[in-house]
Amino acid sequence: MAYTVPKLTDYSEEALDKAAAQLLSEFEKERSAVTADQLKTFRDRWFARKNGILTQVNEIWLKRAPKEHKAEVGRRVNEIRDRVEPYKDSRVINESLGLSISADVKSTAEVKERLDITLPGIRRPLGAEHPIIKTMNQMVSVFRNLGYSVEEGPEIETDYYNFESLNFPPNHPARDTQDTLFIAGQESKPLRDRLLLRTHTSPVQIRTMEKMRPPVRVVCPGKVHRNDAPDATHSPIFHQIEGLAVDTNITFCDLKGTLDHAMKAFFGSSVKTRFYPSFFPFTEPSADVQISCIFCGGKGYRDGGRCPQCKASGWIELLGCGMVDPNVYGFVDYDPKKFSGFAFGMGVDRIAILKYGVDDIQLFFQGDVRFLEQFG
Ligand code: DAH
Repeated sequence: MAYTVPKLTDYSEEALDKAAAQLLSEFEKERSAVTADQLKTFRDRWFARKNGILTQVNEIWLKRAPKEHKAEVGRRVNEIRDRVEPYKDSRVINESLGLSISADVKSTAEVKERLDITLPGIRRPLGAEHPIIKTMNQMVSVFRNLGYSVEEGPEIETDYYNFESLNFPPNHPARDTQDTLFIAGQESKPLRDRLLLRTHTSPVQIRTMEKMRPPVRVVCPGKVHRNDAPDATHSPIFHQIEGLAVDTNITFCDLKGTLDHAMKAFFGSSVKTRFYPSFFPFTEPSADVQISCIFCGGKGYRDGGRCPQCKASGWIELLGCGMVDPNVYGFVDYDPKKFSGFAFGMGVDRIAILKYGVDDIQLFFQGDVRFLEQFG
């Protein structure tokens, strides 16, 4: 009668030893008697993933073992596997057929180390640039080509850089628009030194002007934080790119020309821009910039219906900008009579959402490889 894997009923050490020894001796017997034309049957009987004896040992012995005996059963199952599994490799069996069959597992170890160059190689999946970083790099390179350099600043900022020096006076209602996350336990410090998570990349404007004199042309990409509950269009962490150009004789025309060029370079030459009056404490005048809808070509409707992306308006709002307020120059010791400049700030996540047709901002932050690898 051919050996079959028995059910275990007795979990004493002796009984387990006996069951394991029986199985191993059966294996040795079969293995040493196997002939070349029985090889396949032998391998199926022992190693078939479905119902091979090794699989059965796992199913019948290990999985069904009561909790308190799992460890002892597991130890025996591992021993069995270590002894039996080397023969799964047909070369090992062939070798044992050709050589003395009683050769011990010693020879299997040697064979195991031999390199089989016909085996498929190990595939190392290539990483992909994160869509936010990719978008940021593309946008930054548009400005690099215009002669801008890149500046960065800290994500944990002081009240001074995030607000005061950008012309948000203490208690000014403009601060309310920023949903700030404050660092706890700062009450004993003067307001200007208190720490917070920066709500925008605009503080890098101040840090840049503090360390260099005009002409200044910089873009400042980075992560920003606001106290927003996450949903499909909001995230407490998001990204911005700030821009700043200060020189003699910089006008609103330069601002318009620069942003119009940048939007065309990024979204395609048929995109139009329009500037809409707005308010930011650190720019005067200020504007919001809209681009003609890249989904419906600015028509407001497509596929016989309203365009959902621009809500049928034909325009999509993309960034804020303006001429640097003279008050801001006062904080960095630039002479506002001598210099003028413009600034702008755009949300990277929103641009990536538009560019890649993503319908939920949360996808950018969940680290799901199935989403991310599409950008490789
Ligand atoms: N910092 C602004 C925000 O986060 C965006 C912004 C608007 C930046 C106008 C600018 C600017 O540099 O000039 O809402």
